[in-house]
Amino acid sequence: MNISDTEIAWSILQKAGYSRTHELPEADVVLLVTCSIREKAEQTIWNRLKHLTALKKRCQKHKPLLKIGVLGCMAERLKTKLLEQEKLVDVLAGPDAYRDLPRLLSLGYRGQRASNVLLSLEETYADVMPVHQTPEGHSAFVSIMRGCDNMCSYCIVPFTRGRERSRPLSSILEEVRMLSDQGVKEVTLLGQNVNSYRDFSEQHFICSEGSTQLSRGFKTVYRTKQGGLLFSDLLDKVSQIDPDMRIRFTSPHPKDFPDEVLQLIQERRNICKQIHLPAQSGSSRVLHAMRRGYTREAYLDLVENIREIIPGVNLSSDFITGFCGETEEDHQETLSLVREVGYNVGFLFAYSMRKKTHAYHRLQDDVPAPVKQRRLEELISVFREEAAKVNMALIGSTQLVLVEGESKRSSEELCGRNDGNVKVVFPKTDLPIQPEKPQMVPITSGDYVLVKVNYGQHDNKIELIWLCLLSLVVNPAAGF
Ligand code: 5AD
Ligand code: SF4
Repeated sequence: MNISDTEIAWSILQKAGYSRTHELPEADVVLLVTCSIREKAEQTIWNRLKHLTALKKRCQKHKPLLKIGVLGCMAERLKTKLLEQEKLVDVLAGPDAYRDLPRLLSLGYRGQRASNVLLSLEETYADVMPVHQTPEGHSAFVSIMRGCDNMCSYCIVPFTRGRERSRPLSSILEEVRMLSDQGVKEVTLLGQNVNSYRDFSEQHFICSEGSTQLSRGFKTVYRTKQGGLLFSDLLDKVSQIDPDMRIRFTSPHPKDFPDEVLQLIQERRNICKQIHLPAQSGSSRVLHAMRRGYTREAYLDLVENIREIIPGVNLSSDFITGFCGETEEDHQETLSLVREVGYNVGFLFAYSMRKKTHAYHRLQDDVPAPVKQRRLEELISVFREEAAKVNMALIGSTQLVLVEGESKRSSEELCGRNDGNVKVVFPKTDLPIQPEKPQMVPITSGDYVLVKVNYGQHDNKIELIWLCLLSLVVNPAAGF
């Protein structure tokens, strides 16, 4: 989200005449795009701010106008505390206030500290075409919705990013078409709850009326929205723009996976068969305290349904260890859920209490830090074992890989990702543009290659290493 927010803020500033530098000593304005989700994320920013203010003091003489700004969730959470108490920052802009950045900066230049932390019910930056920054330009994030109405009891996001709202479909399609014209090969649809997408601005267009679209056995804390264009409508339209463009999405909520969405993922070749399914815990008791709106059983039923409709799908997840009241038994249930599902990627965190949340007001953060940490380490190790099994099952298979560039380890190797988002490393070599054609070409980033996986390796991350490159694929939609 922060990469995407940076691209939006940057587009607004570029229009206002700013130019970007990656060299800190050259900058007149330094903006930090921040996250508040856990204490650790904020600590990183505090350290950075201390470093920047020391720099500001040191260059007071030759750069008296150097401005420091904080953007995003931390600006929203701490509001004027950052301006008044800490005196580290000149400009503050919350996640819905990036349009105001040129004005805020101009006030900053007149020696005033300036802030806008108003949250909006409508802002989606629909008309701001982000300046995409991703390496080599072959994959891009496209923001489709902002905010969250779920109010999970541990989570600060609904308070820092505001109410859920969807960007109009037409503007998303326009951006994806533009990216396709620029040669972008992979788009990740982005939002806090992408599959809760509902565009009410174009009801005349398609209307899936009356359908609640919730996964079976799931409920919400808010009244279910009705009508409008749904995530399945969006996926349908986006995936038709360019059959050679891979479509991914993150982060979805398990409650919004009706069969229509799953069937579409299965049917369309260019929608990646990889689903992020944040579970958070394997214990129904903890899930209830987290206000997730589902039980362990409902989650496992959903996994079964997903696997039935999309055989071979890769699943990833988020988990929190040591949430309020979590017992050793609850933790064991989480470990057993991870074993039962067999994810190939996990984002695992120790619980970090956040002010304003339901848990902060009503529950006890009663799991000691060393216990949270020990449970986290146990979870990481079970995850690694399971992920290794899932990935090793690819050995012997042929994978369609979108090339990203040189591998980190060697300039003789390239790396890319398969449809399931698993990293694949292979030698840099020339390939026939089509099997049995003599013409050889070098492989470059943005190419699709067919790779036969011969062995896997895992250290920290799991990688699959090929041995025999089959060919460069000009039109992956035609299949292989
Ligand atoms: N403490 C730890 N992890 C958290 N997450 C959200 N809030 C917290 C918190 N207070 C995790 C959840 C979420 C991911 C983005 O961050 O797992 O899915
Ligand atoms: Fe936070 Fe829950 Fe919303 Fe995700 S769904 S952003 S965890 S409140």
